[in-house]
Amino acid sequence: MGEGMMRTRSGEALTVERLSDAHAAALPRFHESLSQSSRDSFTPHAYDPETVGVYIRRSRSDDDRIYVLLRGDEVVGYFFLWEFQESIPLLGIGIADAFQGAGLGRQMMARLVQDAREAGKDGIELTTMQHNDRAFALYNKMGFEHIGDVENMTGDGRLVIERRMFLALKDGAKPADRAFKPPV
Ligand SMILES: CC(C)(COP(=O)(O)OP(=O)(O)OC[C@H]1O[C@@H](n2cnc3c(N)ncnc32)[C@H](O)[C@@H]1OP(=O)(O)O)[C@@H](O)C(=O)NCCC(=O)NCCS
Repeated sequence: MGEGMMRTRSGEALTVERLSDAHAAALPRFHESLSQSSRDSFTPHAYDPETVGVYIRRSRSDDDRIYVLLRGDEVVGYFFLWEFQESIPLLGIGIADAFQGAGLGRQMMARLVQDAREAGKDGIELTTMQHNDRAFALYNKMGFEHIGDVENMTGDGRLVIERRMFLALKDGAKPADRAFKPPV
């Protein structure tokens, strides 16, 4: 399902699609392609076929609002709002190394914030690693506030302390107590 396009700073057009069966093989390839440092910052879940199938189903049912950014058939970006039926979804984004620094992160964030607003959400939460200055700068620019630190379970089973950030979309909205782990 086509959901529009995004352009890199140098003008390359990439397509945006909702995650579906069509990406079952390309999504794990995307994860494999990431450098170690990108993978350390962005491993939201495991990429075995069963787990990928769970996220494809959750995407189809809109339990999670999940997008891939594509160059041809290859996934070069993965971004989502987990728990999209809750009042405060949980945001994640990751970009292939060759496409980082090209203005795509900002466009992905804008799309996710727009989706949340249109769906009448109270706000958006995310967590990000303490050393990830680039992601932190991007989130700050999008209006997210650093509200504390949390213990987070990564997709490969590590427990890490991360910065917790929140964007209120309605006056007075506050993040709820929650566990930070993949929704499966
Ligand atoms: C983090 C990530 C999503 C950012 O997206 P991006 O499109 O590469 O973002 P950019 O490089 O354009 O940087 C975003 C902003 O932060 C700024 N920035 C970049 N590196 C920075 C740094 N080390 N310190 C402070 N600011 C920095 C940029 O100037 C840019 O601001 P601008 O749009 O006003 O110019 C992307 O690099 C990525 O996927 N990285 C690997 C996985 C990851 O870390 N995911 C996030 C997990 S929480």
